[in-house]
Amino acid sequence: MAAEPEALRIGVVHGPNLNLLGRREPEVYGRATLAEVNARLRSLAAELGVEVEDFQANGEGELIDRVHDMAARVDGFLVNAGAFTHTSVALLDALVGVGRPFVEVHLSNVHAREEFRRRSLLAPRAVGVIVGFGVESYLLGLRGLAVHLREGRRPGRSDRGGS
Ligand code: DQA
Repeated sequence: MAAEPEALRIGVVHGPNLNLLGRREPEVYGRATLAEVNARLRSLAAELGVEVEDFQANGEGELIDRVHDMAARVDGFLVNAGAFTHTSVALLDALVGVGRPFVEVHLSNVHAREEFRRRSLLAPRAVGVIVGFGVESYLLGLRGLAVHLREGRRPGRSDRGGS
């Protein structure tokens, strides 16, 4: 019998101010705390048969260091980079540089807010982007990333999209 493939591992990256979830502008970001978001991700991950490792940091340098460090252990990243989404070439370079696919998520619908939130520096290099569904954005993103990574493991797959 063929050996079971190792479970996929997904790194969950929460950027600045997401440690305040639950009390930060609840009308925009909802009432779930970061601990609750992570617990929901872990329970979905168990259902999907993947493993997740999460972290949150407020500093750009710390986020980049953690992405570098985690890349050795994970197959892909689920990223809510908070405000760095709109500003950080350095975080984009880190995600692209470690060569792991990533999905971008946002709790709020960034396109329905201030103009500056409409631009994401990460999105052009992301596998996909999910915005506006609150905690559900993370869960949908995890499902999408798991499917994408599994497809990548199948021998003889055809490339996604394009012609
Ligand atoms: C956010 C949207 C960003 O514009 C904002 O800076 C955040 C949270 C979201 O999840 O909706 O910190 O990433």
